[in-house]
Amino acid sequence: MAVSQQVFLRDAMRRLNLTRDVFAARIGVKRRALDTWLLPEGSLESRAMPEVVQRFVTEIVENEALLSKYAQSAQSGPLRDRIATGGKHQLLSVDQFTRETVEELCSLADIMQPIARRQKVSRVLEGAVLGNLFFEASTRTRVSFGSAFCRLGGSVCDTTGFTFSSMAKGESIYDTSRVMSGYVDAMVIRHPEQGSVAEFARATNIPVVNGGDGAGEHPSQALLDLYTISTEFSRLGKLLDGAHIALVGDLKYGRTVHSLIKLLGMYRGLKFTLIAPPGLEMPEHIVEQVAKQGKHVIEQTTSLEKGLPGVDVIYATRVQKERFEEGQDGSFTADFQVNKAIIDRCCGPDVIVMHPLPRDSREGAHDLSVDLNHDPRLAIFRQADNGIPVRMAIFAVLLGVETLVQHSMRDVTWDPPSHIGPEDAVFHGMY
Ligand code: NCD
Repeated sequence: MAVSQQVFLRDAMRRLNLTRDVFAARIGVKRRALDTWLLPEGSLESRAMPEVVQRFVTEIVENEALLSKYAQSAQSGPLRDRIATGGKHQLLSVDQFTRETVEELCSLADIMQPIARRQKVSRVLEGAVLGNLFFEASTRTRVSFGSAFCRLGGSVCDTTGFTFSSMAKGESIYDTSRVMSGYVDAMVIRHPEQGSVAEFARATNIPVVNGGDGAGEHPSQALLDLYTISTEFSRLGKLLDGAHIALVGDLKYGRTVHSLIKLLGMYRGLKFTLIAPPGLEMPEHIVEQVAKQGKHVIEQTTSLEKGLPGVDVIYATRVQKERFEEGQDGSFTADFQVNKAIIDRCCGPDVIVMHPLPRDSREGAHDLSVDLNHDPRLAIFRQADNGIPVRMAIFAVLLGVETLVQHSMRDVTWDPPSHIGPEDAVFHGMY
């Protein structure tokens, strides 16, 4: 402790604005014990405060500071203005967020859960139309964005692939974007070239969401990944600050990990273990950006056996063969496969295993194994389910209706199943 025990405790009481009695109760000690810690050092009755109490008090004070900052920021205007980019209500990169704004979005996703879990309905986006423009393969991102918009009462118009769009006739991004802006109220765009979604966004004033731009970013996926980690951690009684996260697989071309590591970097004192085969390592500029964000430990290895012990989260990814350069070799070797055997060997019962999906289930691909399907540590389907509340929150924010949602909810009129997947483990499902 840089200051004396007395100064430390007095400062904590002042910051928390608590009397001695209430402070003692708050930290769970007898008033008498607190009094002896507050006596001048060297006096006969003075006692040293246990280190565990010091750590606990530090945590309470820091959390309090965070909460008041959060309350202040919530009062400082609509979230969409605070995450705006180039003065526009668009979501192109996780760099638009701070820890406070991310946490606000996660709280909003919590508010969306009764709708996502089919207990309530809302029509706050009635009349609004979403343009889903996907120029690259997608199942969950396209459908979950569409479903999220519909569940808020809007409608969706889709276009998929280059072949069936006018881009096949040589139309520019500028023209496509401007024309679409006349037809729809928001656009989600996925495109194989890095930076292309930002180009779409420059040509319009309607909200644009980056649904993945080549090997660039995938901000909505990272937000739902972070939301998943924090909900799983609440269940397990863990904190994100100080967590140990392993990112495994194709970290070079995988855009989900590019966005996720930057978002996680906004928390405190994380340990990242980056496990990639040679040639597929995380780009250096992203590692440097995260290192600058805070006091994180970042280790890189090519071995699952070395990297996995002690991790709280394993985030596996698919080899992005479609982004390989001419002549580059594909597929992971078997020793890169995250499966039940390695997890049982290296990790504890409360590790969580994530993957943005799709996983490559073909023979020889060695992507995340299906032998974990019945293991409650596998969070991939809970993670995919979280795509709905998080994407609803994104739309509500960008279209400025987030404060209307809570009071707009009505009970559903149909009868949804209690567990949406036949093989869901106990804490899956909707209730
Ligand atoms: C990812 C993507 O498209 O970047 N999937 C997703 O959006 N959930 C990951 C991948 O394609 O491997």
